[in-house]
Amino acid sequence: MRTPIVAGNWKMNLGTDEAVELARGIGENAPTNGVTCIVAPVSVHLSSVAEALAASPVLLSAQNMHWADSGAYTGEVAGPMLKELAVRYVILGHSERRQYFGETDEEVNRKVLSALEQDFRPIVCFGETLEERESGRTEAKVEFQVRAALSGLTVEQAERVILAYEPIWAIGTGKTASPQQAQQVHSFIRDIVGERFDRSTANSMPILYGGSVKPRNFGDLIDEKDIDGGLVGGASLKVDSFVELARIAHSV
Ligand code: PGA
Repeated sequence: MRTPIVAGNWKMNLGTDEAVELARGIGENAPTNGVTCIVAPVSVHLSSVAEALAASPVLLSAQNMHWADSGAYTGEVAGPMLKELAVRYVILGHSERRQYFGETDEEVNRKVLSALEQDFRPIVCFGETLEERESGRTEAKVEFQVRAALSGLTVEQAERVILAYEPIWAIGTGKTASPQQAQQVHSFIRDIVGERFDRSTANSMPILYGGSVKPRNFGDLIDEKDIDGGLVGGASLKVDSFVELARIAHSV
């Protein structure tokens, strides 16, 4: 059985007080069992948000991480630094990182390996552009990205990975993949993971959907067999909508 996950990707939003207030509201109102709730604030807010969540079951994620433990990488944040702040998860390979910061599949893989070595659970993002979907290249693209991100992992490491299918055309656009479109990709990717590792690893790996997830569309998405939760941007920035998403996931 895969426990449903609602992970809020706050992206580059909120001031410290706002982030703390949001974390507190989510921490106090989200269901305490049957769903894993995660929030990912910007790195400068991790420490304050960790404090605000200390008494709650909501867990903390970073939005990115460098693969090196320390060194001359101006502007970057290393795993051991995140560890000190009670961070348990790290979003890696988000399409915004790939698109605006030129992150390559090879770099995503280095980060995934480094995160696993440091006992984080990586939330590894992949997804196709509209052009790739319209020209029938969705499966080729997502298979390539997932195989590249998971390259060199042992089965034990793979067991700690969370995948997030985020069609680029659905992120922040208000357009959501239909439950059937998403399910098709999720089931395809689960088969790839099964081929690459084994069936039981594939069956236990959470695969989240991301891209304009809202309380009104989440129920139908998460009802699909291979959709195990959501990686949520916009709708994770309000206590009410985050909590509603967590309740929907809790009730599947
Ligand atoms: P969105 O973002 O929910 O605002 O579309 C999702 C994401 O990019 O993780």
